[in-house]
Amino acid sequence: MAPVALETPVHTNGASTPVSISKKAHAFDPATQQLPNIDPSKLTIKLNPELAAVPAPEKLTFGTIHTDHMLLLTFSPESGWSAPSIQPYGPMSIDPMASCIQYATNIFEGMKAYMGADGKPRLFRPDLNMARMKRSADKLALPPFDEQALLKLIKKLVLIEKRWIPTAPGCSLYIRPTMFGTRTGFGVTPSTHATLLVILSPSGPYFPGVVRPISLYAESRVRRAWPGGTGGFKLALNYAPTLGPTRDAAKMGYDQILWLFGEDDHLGEVGQMNAFVVLKQDDGSLEVVTPPLDGTILPGVTRHSVLDLTRAHSAESPIPGLPTDLVLHVVERDIPIAELIKYSETGKLAEVFGVGTAAVLVPINRIGYGEEGKEIKIEGGANGFGPIAKAVREELMAIQEARRPNAWSVPCEE
Ligand code: COI
Repeated sequence: MAPVALETPVHTNGASTPVSISKKAHAFDPATQQLPNIDPSKLTIKLNPELAAVPAPEKLTFGTIHTDHMLLLTFSPESGWSAPSIQPYGPMSIDPMASCIQYATNIFEGMKAYMGADGKPRLFRPDLNMARMKRSADKLALPPFDEQALLKLIKKLVLIEKRWIPTAPGCSLYIRPTMFGTRTGFGVTPSTHATLLVILSPSGPYFPGVVRPISLYAESRVRRAWPGGTGGFKLALNYAPTLGPTRDAAKMGYDQILWLFGEDDHLGEVGQMNAFVVLKQDDGSLEVVTPPLDGTILPGVTRHSVLDLTRAHSAESPIPGLPTDLVLHVVERDIPIAELIKYSETGKLAEVFGVGTAAVLVPINRIGYGEEGKEIKIEGGANGFGPIAKAVREELMAIQEARRPNAWSVPCEE
């Protein structure tokens, strides 16, 4: 199936780019093929008369409260994308027959806003989120949209909600763009109608309490994703089936699941994060490994950034905190669980960590496997962080919080 394409990708002069819907992708009336796209110039803003109190940063947990406003757009095959609206946060009514309720046509993104020392809110590599959201929408045959127009509106919302951006270390304003199908009916066909909303949540650490290492149970009986499946897309339906197995792992004393796949039970994701492993080599160098994007792995923005930073590590562009002559071999390849066990048994498993937008980077200190209480133990430094995890996390956060100037950190401006 040909991908759903916009005629031109970016707004150049504020004029709306029409949405072009291929007949193959959507069984819509062909008359609907040139529909209004998202148009930031049509934005209406209705401010909330009752602003909530912003909580103290030390009280913040992950994703439990929301800000005062949300961005809302709807799509219909008759009128395309509606004029965007920033309005008071509040409940929405939804038809019980809606596609999202009946057939899980829901996609989302996770982004974060940080406050720069210059008082400008900043987003981290937001183009990558927009591109991924476009791919997720196409996967579920949800309507296409102009990513740059949506990004412009997200920046506007963040500016309006600026007072909610926590400045304490490790805190941020989590941004949740969400789209869902609202076509009513039980026919299993693309949702002709959709709602796109963006909500914000001031957030502290993803895992409750102080920053600490987490434990995993290596699950080989249940699979999260498989080649040709949906694991490489950010669809809500990828998360629901992990909840039962994660509850069961918690009963065994583990924080999250290490998802495995294939006859060799190679590593997939770590709970909702991308996995990284650091292996000691005989010549003193380190191999930094993450599973390849084979369709079972979410192309995470943090994963992409960790690969970029570690690949660039050298005397010319060192990651602060790491020896400049440390050689890192950065590789995307399968890691069978048996290989991890072997490296651990020979004392060469240096570090394991998970990375993602919500958690940034979390070290792993033990991995249970099999049914006999066997465990891989991973030594960490202070708070369980090995040297690579510590240096990479600090560098990422310095860029995200705009303490270190970097083009990845994109200011929100009018
Ligand atoms: C993220 O890291 O942003 C995620 O999407 C993980 C989770 C909150 C679903």
